[in-house]
Amino acid sequence: MTESFKHFILKEGCFYTINCATSPKKVLGSSRKFLEVLGSIWKFWEVLGSTGKLRDKFPESGDGRTEKIICYRKGQVMSRKEKRNVIVGQSGGPTAAINSSLAGVFRTAKDRGYKKVYGMLHGVQGLLEGRYIDLSEHIRTGLDAELLKRTPSAYLGSCRYKLPNISEDKDVYEKIFDILDKLEIDCFIYIGGNDSMDTIKKLSDYAIITGSEIRFVGCPKTIDNDLALTDHTPGYGSAAKYIGTSVKEIIRDGWSLETSNGQIVVVEIMGRNAGWLTAAAALSKGEDCDGPDAIYLPELDFDIDKFIKKCKEMLKKKRSIVVAVSEGIHTKDGTYISELGNATEYVDAFGHKQLTGTARYLCNVLSQEIGCKTRSIELSTLQRAASHCASRVDILEAYEVGGAAMKAADEGDTGKMVVIQRLSDDPYQAGTEVKDVHKIANDERLVPREWITKDGTYVTNEFLTYVRPLIQGDVAPIMVDGIPRHLYVPGYQELL
Ligand code: F6P
Repeated sequence: MTESFKHFILKEGCFYTINCATSPKKVLGSSRKFLEVLGSIWKFWEVLGSTGKLRDKFPESGDGRTEKIICYRKGQVMSRKEKRNVIVGQSGGPTAAINSSLAGVFRTAKDRGYKKVYGMLHGVQGLLEGRYIDLSEHIRTGLDAELLKRTPSAYLGSCRYKLPNISEDKDVYEKIFDILDKLEIDCFIYIGGNDSMDTIKKLSDYAIITGSEIRFVGCPKTIDNDLALTDHTPGYGSAAKYIGTSVKEIIRDGWSLETSNGQIVVVEIMGRNAGWLTAAAALSKGEDCDGPDAIYLPELDFDIDKFIKKCKEMLKKKRSIVVAVSEGIHTKDGTYISELGNATEYVDAFGHKQLTGTARYLCNVLSQEIGCKTRSIELSTLQRAASHCASRVDILEAYEVGGAAMKAADEGDTGKMVVIQRLSDDPYQAGTEVKDVHKIANDERLVPREWITKDGTYVTNEFLTYVRPLIQGDVAPIMVDGIPRHLYVPGYQELL
């Protein structure tokens, strides 16, 4: 058949209009036979029937040379025309696993027959400036793909860019879709967290409104682990492993030195509103280590007086205390503890204040109140860039989730995000599914209250059962001259 396919997207589904040089009925003998053939080719689709009923709804297309076939599954659009190109972007805070998802998207797109896989530089923000690369020029061999999986930061560059509401500014959308059309994009994959899923939501909505065939699918990523509807997010496991490991090393360091009035170390860990990362400090606990002496998550209000009292009591029993605090701990009235010190004024496009200096502020207070030695440690960038300490489970899942996002878009999903579903803790088993991004974007999944101890200063064993499988295994870095090697092609840095 020499047909060209065109599809129309309806809010609840889609149908195809097939324009043939000759009527498909003539080619295949009967309308029924034609539907059977389509049904077998379009495995993922239910061929519901031919166009009798639709002709009532869309009378303009019944010209005798046109056959309309309803092949529809809710929320999916799919065109069987020749596959064209894919574009993928990274957005939000980087992780040690985000590039593994990029590698997964690339591999699956190639395996499924897409011609080019473009990477937008600095996400949608860069795309709007026409900045993108052909990923084949960067992932040239199997070794490049392996290096990419082990490379921290966002290889394509990231952004924190908030798309306006469609009703407020259509120009931005028109510009993006013009660029996507020019690049002949069929699938748009965005690897990111909450704010990035807002982008997928808006772009997929715009596509539906305007009848564009481009499919938009989100690939979850965030060390914060705060995306709704997914058991966990790629990037979290590796950051949790690094935090557990580093806190354990900090605790061990504290055993070695004699200090007259004792020592308190406050470790500040990322996670603005969700305490998943800070809770991971408890992973340091084992036969050879008691773990941190207290853990404070942003899910609960922080009381400075109670904190000082607890530290005094702990110092009476031990000369070296380690406390893990979230960067987002706040007083009852919502003031971040970091704001009580020398906070920075920086606010990002989503209105988030930069949080830094919580541990420094608390150490100053403790040394004034108790007179002991203190040390503040802000894990900062290290916790999301520590590829040398990545979790094997995390890196492999990130790769699979990237592949699953590409597969979903290829099979017609749009306005969706891939989620991870845990099947069992021990042995750990998990699979992927896709969920409506409208139910995920801009929502935040916090540590459940029942996984925090009653007094609010530690996490429970249930949390440890949840997190342990996610940090298992290692991904050996590819070492060159004693240092891990990352993916780099000549001129790469200048691109960013
Ligand atoms: O990606 C999320 C996150 O890591 C938060 O935990 C943290 O508050 C924020 O990013 C820090 O981002 P930036 O590096 O842009 O200051």
